[in-house]
Amino acid sequence: MTLTAGRCLVTGGAGFIGSHVAKRLFEAGCDVTVLDTNAGGGGAVEGVRYVKGNATNAELVDRLVAEHDAVFHLAAMLGVKTTMDAPAEMIENNVQGTVNVLRSALKFRRKVVFASSSEVYGKGRPPFSEDDDLLYGPTKRLRWSYATAKLLEEFLCLGYGRKGLPVTVVRYFNVYGPGQKDGPYGGVIPKFIRAALAGDDITVYGDGTQTRCFTYVEDAAEATIRALRPEADNEIVNIGTEHEIPIMEVARLVKSISKSVSKIVRVPYASVYPHGFEEIPRRLPTTDKMKSLLGYRPKVDLGIGLGLTLQWYQGNRKQGG
Ligand SMILES: NC(=O)c1ccc[n+]([C@@H]2O[C@H](COP(=O)([O-])OP(=O)(O)OC[C@H]3O[C@@H](n4cnc5c(N)ncnc54)[C@H](O)[C@@H]3O)[C@@H](O)[C@H]2O)c1
Repeated sequence: MTLTAGRCLVTGGAGFIGSHVAKRLFEAGCDVTVLDTNAGGGGAVEGVRYVKGNATNAELVDRLVAEHDAVFHLAAMLGVKTTMDAPAEMIENNVQGTVNVLRSALKFRRKVVFASSSEVYGKGRPPFSEDDDLLYGPTKRLRWSYATAKLLEEFLCLGYGRKGLPVTVVRYFNVYGPGQKDGPYGGVIPKFIRAALAGDDITVYGDGTQTRCFTYVEDAAEATIRALRPEADNEIVNIGTEHEIPIMEVARLVKSISKSVSKIVRVPYASVYPHGFEEIPRRLPTTDKMKSLLGYRPKVDLGIGLGLTLQWYQGNRKQGG
């Protein structure tokens, strides 16, 4: 696509989705700078400038925002483990970084695309539409702190929009693909793939009937970049697919695509998640707005995307990654 923004700042651009956004922007002809606490940690995209630093540093953010035409703000702490173990750090990190980005962007009149999450839909009834009412558990259930922080950041975005800032919120639904980390409790696809390649048990939490809609990272990156469009200013847009699949089915697909000898085993939630964690049984977006406002339909179906992801992990394993 043709981009009007020549110089783009990607916060969190050394991470999974951000690195794909940075690469795609660079390939589209943009000058790209990444701001990430983990810059220099490997996986750098050739041609992209990396600044190792923290989005909570207001001075640094101000300087970098001034030098760019648009900001993709993806820097965040995330994941169930982080949310449960370090909610205060997560909230401060995420909210402070977003405040800094929005303040600087308003000052210099730069467009912001903010990375939110399907988590903000909480315990609502799917399919999830951008204007739905939202329902969370009690404050003592810390797993809701991440969703609440993202929600607050969305309000901040819309609040700055009121002040004249062009800003778009994108809500990602289960993004997967090459480059995704395999951490504790996080990223079911990397976990399944690693187990399948190692011949270990593929462990499915609960009875495996819980469903998700998986979005290939290249599709997520393209939709994110399209959110630069002025038509998307002050809007919230789901980024995902309507292909709902039970987790047990994903485990079977991974096993079959990788021709793995692994067994698929079920384990109870209580044995893997910290006390107080509540699982969401279904997570399904409506995608009309993504199609109409961003003019985008995801291109990579799950079978193909899993194959590409598997290849990436196999390559990484060979290099000892
Ligand atoms: N992966 C998903 O399925 C998913 C789903 C919903 C929302 N999101 C959101 O998308 C964004 C990117 O997620 P990801 O999956 O690529 O995660 P990731 O952990 O791979 O990337 C996040 C990056 O942000 C950096 N970072 C964190 N705090 C920072 C700070 N204060 N200053 C500078 N850098 C900082 C980290 O070092 C990391 O490289 C996040 O905002 C996340 O909340 C992701």
